[in-house]
Amino acid sequence: MTRRKLAAGNWKMNGLKAALAEAKTLAAEHPAPNCDVLLCPPATLVAAMAAALEGTAVKTGGQDCHAAASGAHTGDVSAEMLADAGAAAVIVGHSERRADHGEDDAAVAAKAMAAWRAGLVAVICVGETEAQRDAGETLTVIGDQIAGSIPPGATAENTVVAYEPVWAIGAGRTPTLPQIAEVHDFMRDELVKKMAEAAEGVRLLYGGSVKPGNAAEIFAVSNVDGGLVGGASLKAADFGGIVAAAGA
Ligand code: PGA
Repeated sequence: MTRRKLAAGNWKMNGLKAALAEAKTLAAEHPAPNCDVLLCPPATLVAAMAAALEGTAVKTGGQDCHAAASGAHTGDVSAEMLADAGAAAVIVGHSERRADHGEDDAAVAAKAMAAWRAGLVAVICVGETEAQRDAGETLTVIGDQIAGSIPPGATAENTVVAYEPVWAIGAGRTPTLPQIAEVHDFMRDELVKKMAEAAEGVRLLYGGSVKPGNAAEIFAVSNVDGGLVGGASLKAADFGGIVAAAGA
């Protein structure tokens, strides 16, 4: 089955209002008719980015959400708030959230359900640490994260799964292409066990040091349906190259 590729950018805790110009340049210079494009700025910029990108093919997303729709959770942002601000999707379970905020699989699953409740696509992240890979535990870890972080109710429309080896994020190094293929093929099999035929439509993104120079070869790997890009999504010139590879 052919799945439309997705180039998703995660700005992390980067970007002031002036950075919206990069998003506008990206939308103008890389119309990307053959793939989907998503930019996830910090929460402070979601509304302004969604407004700036209105009428373009580039969608806006959040980087995290609380599981509840509203309530006494100082500093948190709900999926409903992101949707209200113009977001179409939200990343949940990024390894930086898992590590910095102690989010476990159950918390990530609750956030994914919150995303669906608000009408957002959940971009659910999984990935092993370097120590886990060295110990030969990669597939066990990914299998457990898929089992625990993707709730029942996932569909090809409401869910994207991102494989992001923790040791490749922001590191300038990536797994070999066969290593990426091994994990992505495994993830597809695990999803088929969970979701039956619907699993075939779920997009599986690779993330971790995707750059314009390696995007094309990574996106050509078995069961890789695009990328989740951190550092190289901040500048339209870099992300544009990755979008071009996704749309090729
Ligand atoms: P990176 O980050 O592209 O800067 O390695 C990827 C991510 O954490 O989503």
